[in-house]
Amino acid sequence: ADRFDILLLPGDGIGPEVIGAARRVLDAAADHFGFELACDERLVGAAAIRAEGAPVSEETIQAAKSSDAILFGAVGDPEFDGGDVRPEAGLLALRKALDTFANLRPVAAIPALLDASPLKREIVEGVDVLIVRELTGGSYFGEKVEAFDYSSDLSVYTKEEVVRVARVAFEAAGRRKGRLTSVDKANVMATGRLWRKVVNEVAEEYPDVELDHVLADAAAMHLIQNPRRFDVIVTDNLFGDMLSDEASVLPGSMGMLPSASLGAPGTPGLFEPVHGSAPDIAGKGVANPYAAILTAAMMFRHGLDRPDVSDALERAVSTATEAGFLTRDLGGDKNTEEVTQAVIRWIGAGEGHM
Ligand code: NAD
Ligand code: IPM
Ligand code: MN
Repeated sequence: ADRFDILLLPGDGIGPEVIGAARRVLDAAADHFGFELACDERLVGAAAIRAEGAPVSEETIQAAKSSDAILFGAVGDPEFDGGDVRPEAGLLALRKALDTFANLRPVAAIPALLDASPLKREIVEGVDVLIVRELTGGSYFGEKVEAFDYSSDLSVYTKEEVVRVARVAFEAAGRRKGRLTSVDKANVMATGRLWRKVVNEVAEEYPDVELDHVLADAAAMHLIQNPRRFDVIVTDNLFGDMLSDEASVLPGSMGMLPSASLGAPGTPGLFEPVHGSAPDIAGKGVANPYAAILTAAMMFRHGLDRPDVSDALERAVSTATEAGFLTRDLGGDKNTEEVTQAVIRWIGAGEGHM
């Protein structure tokens, strides 16, 4: 296609700063590749609570469903912490409404950033892990009880929910190095035992993928002690949330991790950086826009069937990092705008367009 209907949901805190950056990069890519971008923009999170009374409106959910893809920023605002209406509920409602059950969170060492990680270079070098996080089940979505002195989050997984995310992970492993690690707590949790049994069953459909099982606590250790042992990891909603933040120390910052939240083929994907609204740095113009730009790249690959555009954006990001365009979280001194302009300058580099 050469026309894409994108819904932008910048959200809160640094969300609008990094989505603004991604938008400028998208406009440059549209110019360079000659496609048309029709961007609609709406409120989500705290911004939507203030203006519309809810963290995501029904109209916004409908607009999301009828778009080709959604590019999301971040939600969350200290003003609403502990309250009854939470900005984060808007993101959860979108994931559920779009049934984006498979969240792909790639974590790769970037050569120019080997010294941005607090971990030793020899641990980080060559790391290339894909975390496939189940995104619409488990303790996030089970029945909730919130009483004065008693609370409960029910964690439920059905066989079918495990089957469908497992298939996404096996397929991804088949296209990569052919190794899948399933992470659970089968030693303690009933959902963990179902998870393991079902993943073993699905494995029979993928004889070329080598499968192993690691308990979640041990996986947390292996991930920073010997991250190269992993190719693809598949895990539940809560473990996937925690392991992906932990994994961000490999490239060096939350500001480097993109993600794609995918549902059934033909339905729009929700593309969201892994990081949050970062209230500690919001409004200063120093947020790292690479995660949002790499998220836009994932949108072209997994949502819009334009891997060529995705490749160009990813190459532009590596070139910009190699040229020293690093924000403070990476130990550099560039601001959001300088990094964004650098990426824009390198779009199309290597194709004779410089
Ligand atoms: P966070 O990801 O917002 O920030 C964690 C740390 O990483 C902070 O020190 C922050 O400054 C830094 N950081 C994150 N992204 C960065 C970037 N692009 N550039 C530079 N530094 C970056 O997590 P938190 O502080 O635990 O949460 C803040 C709020 O965000 C909370 O309300 C939380 O619920 C929400 N949150 C939202 C999402 C989302 O919308 N997808 C994800 C995580 C957290
Ligand atoms: C993430 C975030 C969200 C999650 C929150 C904001 C609901 O931490 O996308 O990783 O826990 O899934
Ligand atoms: Mn998270």
